[in-house]
Amino acid sequence: MARRICSFCAKPEDQVAHLLAGHRDVAICDECARLAVEITGEHAFEQTSGDLLLTGIGLIITNDPRQNGPIEGGAIAVRGGNITWIGPQRELPSRYRSLVTLDCGGRTVLPGFVDSHTHLVFDGDRAEEFGRRMRGEDYESIMAAGGGIQSTVRATRAAGPDRLLDLALERADRMLSLGTTTVEIKSGYGLDTLTERHMLEVAGEIGRRLPIDVISTFLGAHAVPEEYRLDRDAYLWLIEEEMLPAVASVAAYCDVFCDAGVFSVDEARRVLAAGRRHGLRPRLHANQLGDTGGLELAVEIGAISADHLEHVTVRQASLLAEAGVVAVLLPAASLSMRSKQAPARLLRDAGAIIALATDCNPGTSNVESMQFVVALGALEMGLTVEESIWAATRGGALAVEEPDKGWLRVGAVADLHVLDTDNYIDIAYQPDRSVTWKVVKDGRVVVG
Ligand code: NIG
Ligand code: FE
Repeated sequence: MARRICSFCAKPEDQVAHLLAGHRDVAICDECARLAVEITGEHAFEQTSGDLLLTGIGLIITNDPRQNGPIEGGAIAVRGGNITWIGPQRELPSRYRSLVTLDCGGRTVLPGFVDSHTHLVFDGDRAEEFGRRMRGEDYESIMAAGGGIQSTVRATRAAGPDRLLDLALERADRMLSLGTTTVEIKSGYGLDTLTERHMLEVAGEIGRRLPIDVISTFLGAHAVPEEYRLDRDAYLWLIEEEMLPAVASVAAYCDVFCDAGVFSVDEARRVLAAGRRHGLRPRLHANQLGDTGGLELAVEIGAISADHLEHVTVRQASLLAEAGVVAVLLPAASLSMRSKQAPARLLRDAGAIIALATDCNPGTSNVESMQFVVALGALEMGLTVEESIWAATRGGALAVEEPDKGWLRVGAVADLHVLDTDNYIDIAYQPDRSVTWKVVKDGRVVVG
């Protein structure tokens, strides 16, 4: 095979420190790449490998318990999409200096956000319903009268997979541009086998089309669809016998909306057990509308996470902590519902692992920004900004069982969020203006 050469300086591969292969036969050596960056102040070419050196970092929030707090004046070296070196820049080994370099100019770097609970595949909006709720109508009676989730089900069924994909891609792209590098996506607005399957296929396609990792969750038990209103048992049978076999290959988790007026504990137990038989790990919408046993079920079956948790006592917080079930808290949903926030402090003090997520959905949380959610964690839930950031990064990674994400250490996935500020407090202090400067996914600059 012919030796590859740099298309700019013509040096052969073995005479340069590193040669990045581009499209067709184009390649560029580190030195020319660095010059191009210097001249343009930007990445003048598409990075084709996940190799990158970040220098001039004012502060790195690592979330690494082995580090004694954040790293000041840091650098991060990435090869093949993973972190190979991280530390104070003055200690950076010289062998990394030849990598394509992004000078962060004193800015802050933290792990990409992991949004561990969203319903972002849907059609239709519920602005009118929102207006009614703001005039005092409540969510449960709107739902019982065939509005709420059912109205999104009608719009989603009517949309077709292409339109669902276009809409969801737009949302996921905005999330990425706001620093989210991994997103969990639930089905649950199809409530028939074909549309549920389409929703999960759309979720998977987002991960293939955009530089964002997608974790898919089957939520066929989000509501009983209108056509089964008089025969819920037949709907449960459909989930077990038809939907689960049809979606098992395109989902990792099974979720149930276990709450007042939705699915009971016994029904949720049944669906989650069936999900498990199909290889889907359990997670649960629990204790959002009331204290109806969802939390105890999550503990009993060893769910990966219990989500929402607005109604939790001290004793229940300890139960969750002891069982190691991650508490996924959704402050933007409580904000939109004008309901009380989940007791984040109490859960944390009990030793529970907390994750913060958007719950992005058209009914109760028309929110895509994890920055906004971090701000709510601090402003509305009594967390410190540091705890809130941790919950939106490392907490989220634990909630979706991605142990190499949500922290920055050697071996971790190089999903990085570079803030356009030298003070991470700005994430919550200026909640209405994005602080994102650049987003790096698997070592590639994908935003900014
Ligand atoms: O997480 N709680 C259940 N599901 C969604 C809301 C769904 C909807 O109202 O469309 C949630 O808040
Ligand atoms: Fe939800």
